[in-house]
Formats: sequence, structure tokens, C-alpha cells
Amino acid sequence: MQNIDENPKTALITGASAGIGLAFAREFAEQGFDVVLVARREEKLNEVAAEIKAQYGAMAYVIVGDLADPSTPQAIFNTIKNKNITIDVLVNNAGYSIDESFLDTDWEIHANFIQVLSTSLAHMCHLFAAGMKERNYGRIINISSIAAFSPQLSGSLYGAAKSFVLDFTQAIDLELKPHNVFCTALCPGFTYSEFHDAMGVREAVNRLPKFLWMDAQTVAKEGIRAVMEGKTVYINGLLNQGVSQVLAALPVRVKQFISEKQSIFEL
Ligand SMILES: NC(=O)c1ccc[n+]([C@@H]2O[C@H](COP(=O)([O-])OP(=O)(O)OC[C@H]3O[C@@H](n4cnc5c(N)ncnc54)[C@H](OP(=O)(O)O)[C@@H]3O)[C@@H](O)[C@H]2O)c1
Repeated sequence: MQNIDENPKTALITGASAGIGLAFAREFAEQGFDVVLVARREEKLNEVAAEIKAQYGAMAYVIVGDLADPSTPQAIFNTIKNKNITIDVLVNNAGYSIDESFLDTDWEIHANFIQVLSTSLAHMCHLFAAGMKERNYGRIINISSIAAFSPQLSGSLYGAAKSFVLDFTQAIDLELKPHNVFCTALCPGFTYSEFHDAMGVREAVNRLPKFLWMDAQTVAKEGIRAVMEGKTVYINGLLNQGVSQVLAALPVRVKQFISEKQSIFEL
């Protein structure tokens, strides 16, 4: 969808300093949207904002924030209100995974993880969807993953967090769609980004076959198309769509057997 209004619409993207979030920022700007970029690394965000302004002529605002801090969503909302910016599209994309066992990881690390991937995501929806409903226009993309359908990784909260995003998005879509606020749970598979470097598993995933991987720009493009068309759940790529359907249909004991036999990160 090209944004050809006299007053351009604005998309807020969390985790816009790298990977899929950066691709969303570029893609929205290319389609004529102004963008608000959120992440922790200020220098990276400023570079992205400068690139977007130069390349697409869009307004690009930077808000530095750590979504592990429960006060950050409200602080982002207040900053935007003070700047008189209207958010038409929200992309809750910030995320990461932890490749450590459940018990060997301090609770604070788990608590931060749940805050970033689930609680802050829901809080951002709660804060921004109210205005969207009032204005009778809004689009929300919450980044889930094919991990929401897959066998679990031993001791990992990642699949559970992404299942939360998948189910939560369907629930708010039911409430908001009658008000022209469409919500999409976007489920990418393996996507080139900084994700596996941050997780510390780059060497293992580099051994996975190339056909399993997608580029972040394609994931973002498909995500924007899906939300504009009102798709509640969208799995990126035909291969991921097929695999996820099969995995989702497997009995739990088969899923557990697969997980016990092989972790993709220990290839
Ligand atoms: N790559 C994949 O294979 C894949 C597959 C399925 C789903 N996903 C999901 O896609 C989303 C984007 O991941 P990606 O692959 O693009 O990874 P990435 O390249 O590592 O980017 C992650 C983004 O999240 C931001 N972020 C991380 N922790 C944050 C925090 N506490 N507060 C604010 N921002 C934070 C990072 O920015 P700063 O470090 O600057 O804060 C960065 O911009 C995640 O939700 C991920 O779970 C990824």
C-alpha cells in the first residue's frame, strides 16, 4: 500500500536498529510513511534515521528505550504525545533469544526476556490501539515466529513467548477489527539479521541449508502486505507455511521426541 495522503501516516517500529525492524523502517519509508524508530542503540538509530531521511525524504524520529524496563512503553507514548505525532501503524518487533538452560539462567534474565517479548509488546498495543480505535484507523504487526508452531527448544522461553504473541494478536484483532484497526501476528522462519549473533549460535545456524533462509526485506514487505489486507496470522514464505502446518498438527509426544533427539542449535 502506497501512503499517498497529503499528511503522511506514521509507523512506529520497535527494534529498528537492526535486522527485520530496520527492514520494516526502510520499507514503510519507501511506501511514503514517516517512521518512529525505537531501540537501545542510539548511534545505530541515528544512522538509520539519517539514511531514511536522505533516501526516502521521510521524517524519521528516534526514541531510545530499553523495553526490558516496564516503564519504557509509557515513556515512548508520552514522548510521542509531546511531539504531537499520530501513530497509525505499530510494529512490535524488538526481540531476541537466550541459548542457555532454564535453571542455569538467572531469573532476572528471564524476567527481562518476558518483559521485552510479551509484556512490553502487549503494553504498547494497549497504549497505541486506543487512539487508533478513536480515529477509526490503525495497523498493528506483532512479530511472532514459526517457533510458535515448532517443537520446543529444551528449557527455552522463546517458543512460549512467541505463542503468546500469536494468540494475543488474534484476540486483539477480534476486538479492534470492527474499528478498522487490523492486527497481524507475523511469523518469520530463519531470517538473515543480527538475531543469531546476539544469541551466540551463528556458527551452528550457518550450517543450515540456504533454502531455509529469507532476507529481512522480504519478511517486512510481506508483513506490511498482510496487515493491510487484514490477515490475522501470516507465516513468511511457502516453505515455512507448509512446515508450520505440519509441525502444529503433530502430537505433543512426537514434538517432544524431536526436541530430545536434536536441537537445531547443536547441529
Ligand atoms: N531472525 C530470525 O531468524 C527470526 C525468526 C523469527 C522471528 N524473529 C523475530 O523477529 C524480531 C526481530 O529480530 P531480528 O531477527 O531482526 O533480530 P536482530 O537483528 O537481533 O534485531 C533485534 C532488534 O531488537 C532490538 N532489541 C533487542 N532487545 C531490546 C530491548 N531490550 N529494548 C529495545 N529493543 C531491543 C535490537 O536493538 P538494540 O540492540 O539496539 O536495542 C534490534 O533492533 C524478533 O522479535 C525475533 O524474535 C526472528
